[in-house]
Amino acid sequence: MLESVEKLKAAFEEALAKVSDSEELEKLRIAYLGKKGAVADFMKELKNMDNESKKEFGKEVNILKDAIDASIRSFGEKLDQARLDAQIRNAKKFDFTIPSDQPEGSLHPITIVQRRIEDIFKSMGFIIEDGLEIQTEYNNFEAVNIPKNHPARDMQDTYYLSNGQLLKTHTSAAQNYIMRKYGAPKKGEPPLKVLFPGRCFRNENIDACHENTFWQMEGMMIGEDISISNLIYFMKVLLSEVFERDIKVRLRPGFFPFVEPGFELDINCLICGGEGCPTCKNSGWLELLPCGMIHPNVLRMGGIDPDKYTGFAFGLGLTRLAMMKFGITDIRVLNSGNLKALKQFVD
Ligand code: PHE
Repeated sequence: MLESVEKLKAAFEEALAKVSDSEELEKLRIAYLGKKGAVADFMKELKNMDNESKKEFGKEVNILKDAIDASIRSFGEKLDQARLDAQIRNAKKFDFTIPSDQPEGSLHPITIVQRRIEDIFKSMGFIIEDGLEIQTEYNNFEAVNIPKNHPARDMQDTYYLSNGQLLKTHTSAAQNYIMRKYGAPKKGEPPLKVLFPGRCFRNENIDACHENTFWQMEGMMIGEDISISNLIYFMKVLLSEVFERDIKVRLRPGFFPFVEPGFELDINCLICGGEGCPTCKNSGWLELLPCGMIHPNVLRMGGIDPDKYTGFAFGLGLTRLAMMKFGITDIRVLNSGNLKALKQFVD
């Protein structure tokens, strides 16, 4: 008898694997769980059994019934989700806000690279966060270990607002907020992994390689045993996925008050192939990925115990990365709004 319960279960699973829409699923449900269904047939047989087998067999049939019910429900949810996903995918084809006589637009090169990197990091378990563009001095500087009058403030010529706030000079301005929002991982939880892209502002004289408005993409990973090898691993994955080929890199010590040790990860200039050109200031190398282990003071200010947790942070120059990826030699093109130039870039 128990054998036939097993057989029925196997037959159900086989039938379920062939179901492709909710109509078929409903038919299957009726065939198994309906009043005249296969499970009900089993129940009928209980009548003719002695008490002992009735108990044993009844239990097995009930377990089977619950399992079939649960499988049907979860399959139904999957079908609903797939239907919804398909609807959303198709809905994207219609943007009712576009005037009918206008040609379709295209994504900005920075958006293309941003989305690509977000996808890579999401697949590795990172959360995507957003940071404000108007920030307090505390978040932009103090909270990342750059106290008032520290010379490191001079490296970031800042736009202050009349109310004492400022336009964020780097994405690191969101570090403190993110640490406080999520906190350190609890026992048994995976490390905290966050990616936070954003637009940054510094008072620069604009030329082919300087802009006052540019994009960075910052990442952080905080946990109990995070080390420099984790940092290097993630940086390598990032670069090989974005460029889809091997890129020559070099790691040098770099100073940022919020990391210790700190590094500059440079890539071989892809515009000139390392020979030297205006984009790389004739050095053949481009500073692309400053990074390092998060300074204990920064963790502490974020409410995370530096004696227990470590972490890394990196601040990718997203604007520069987009220029390298698409071979854009003049940074001014990116903020120009010049559609003729901008719409030629596709992923
Ligand atoms: N915030 C730094 C800058 O803009 C970059 C950075 C981020 C460096 C994270 C190290 C770690 O210059």
